Amino acid sequence: MAIRRVGVAGCGLMGSGIAQTCAQSGYETVVREVNQQLLDKGMARIHEAWEMLAGKGKITQGQVDEYQARLHGTLELADFADCDLVIEAVIENMEEKVRLFPALDNILKPATLILSNTSSLNVTQMGAVTKRPDKVCGLHFFNPAPVMKLVEVVRTISTSDETIETVKQFALSLGKTPVLAKDTAGFIVNFLLIPYLLAAIRMLENGMATRDDIDIAMKLGCGYPMGPFTLLDYVGLDTTLWAAEAIYDEYKDPLYAPPPLLRRMVISGMYGRKSGKGFYDYQ
Ligand code: 3HC
Repeated sequence: MAIRRVGVAGCGLMGSGIAQTCAQSGYETVVREVNQQLLDKGMARIHEAWEMLAGKGKITQGQVDEYQARLHGTLELADFADCDLVIEAVIENMEEKVRLFPALDNILKPATLILSNTSSLNVTQMGAVTKRPDKVCGLHFFNPAPVMKLVEVVRTISTSDETIETVKQFALSLGKTPVLAKDTAGFIVNFLLIPYLLAAIRMLENGMATRDDIDIAMKLGCGYPMGPFTLLDYVGLDTTLWAAEAIYDEYKDPLYAPPPLLRRMVISGMYGRKSGKGFYDYQ
């Protein structure tokens, strides 16, 4: 099926990056937030990114205008009615997702696909609360969504071959490389990345090395673009905690058990870059 108009539910860090990517890839894009303040913040993030790219000479002012004209912010779920594909990027909380999916199901055309950007939650459960589980799958982007080349296409036991093929083609049209993963907690990347990040926190808790030395070691020793603490702050400690909990819930493997320090930092509002404080200070 042809995808022309895309809806993005949620304009936070991931939702705004996804909406930016869709609009600059030629799709009419509607992005929805739950209140004006969150919508303004997300839209400003996108416009700043385009201005930054224009400032660097990577895109022209004409392209900025063209992208902006294709991007529409809204507070109304009903504005997704004409969308051919909707990507859910709301908070990583299953209660929120299972409230949103039936609401989308009621509004959208029967052929519209509903994709979740969840990093670790059960996509099968999201499909099961709709009347179109064959048209539901995961499409997991990586932060920063406009820059990172990978997307995980997550297949549930109900997703049809046709949906998977359409979503793979859609991912390619966004300039991404899709990989296919089964709907098991953590998919591919977080199944491998989360234990690494949690192990770094445990090293710090146990006093085995300092934050800075651990970051330097992994950057210079392994050629990673960021050390684990810089990456934790970048991804968000709250997001990391939710991902760890979801994978731990599924497998009960102690590798995924959130370390006490991570939980306490999240309780204290230290989410990383987005809150101004995490393992590093950003104020
Ligand atoms: N839109 C378009 N382009 C953007 C952009 C945006 N919003 N933000 C940055 N860019 C471009 C810049 O213009 C720049 O392009 P250039 O190199 O051609 O000039 C390029 O992206 C890199 O940006 P910067 O120069 O600002 O920064 P760095 O070179 O330091 O790279 C980074 C930043 C890409 C974030 C790099 O440090 C990196 O790859 N870090 C690792 C990130 C990572 O691992 N992400 C995955 C996390 S896991 C996850 O998200 C899953 C979740 O479920 C937990």
